[in-house]
Amino acid sequence: MSVFEVIENRKSVRSYLDEEVNEEELKKIVETGKKAPQAGEFQITVIQNKNLIAKINDLALTGMKNSGNDFLVERASIEGYQPLYNAPVLVLLSAPEEGHGDINTALASENIILAATELGYGTVYLVTPTLAFLGEEREGLLKELNLPNGFIPVNGIAIGKEGVETIQSPPAEDIDNINYVK
Ligand SMILES: Cc1cc2nc3c(=O)[nH]c(=O)nc-3n(C[C@H](O)[C@H](O)[C@H](O)COP(=O)(O)O)c2cc1C
Repeated sequence: MSVFEVIENRKSVRSYLDEEVNEEELKKIVETGKKAPQAGEFQITVIQNKNLIAKINDLALTGMKNSGNDFLVERASIEGYQPLYNAPVLVLLSAPEEGHGDINTALASENIILAATELGYGTVYLVTPTLAFLGEEREGLLKELNLPNGFIPVNGIAIGKEGVETIQSPPAEDIDNINYVK
């Protein structure tokens, strides 16, 4: 696919098959995160441990329910809703709290998402996993991730083979938000 076709094909996938992601392809996909524009440190953590993914999922769900954010509370109340959508791989992007961590990790994420799309995998960009790190499990979870000192998860990406979509995306609006100044 050309880069334009990859961008056109990308969409948020919220249902995954119970199938591993090929190790070689996964490595190729996550390595692209290192090639994005960046201004500062960040860490790409590739989680394939089902127990850890389930733990982050469950804590994120609780975090959504307790967030006080109407949208998140409503999503979390959908029957059977799982914030990580049972994906076999969760990539967490982490950075120091100070600096451009959110931007560095977002740019790296888009590379990873587009590379995964090129190789036929579904993805969804996620902020909900960060909610798992707000409660009392925070320190234990951070230890399990083996992050550099002072780094905290900023966003995540679920990756896997697309399943039957059950949870709809909020409608993507086609807003006319490009203007040209000549
Ligand atoms: C900052 C940000 C945070 C997001 N967090 C989540 C999330 O936690 N869970 C989720 O299912 N989708 C999340 N999304 C995906 C958006 O819902 C999705 O990209 C948008 O609805 C457009 O749909 P599309 O990706 O299929 O084009 C997030 C997107 C962005 C940019």
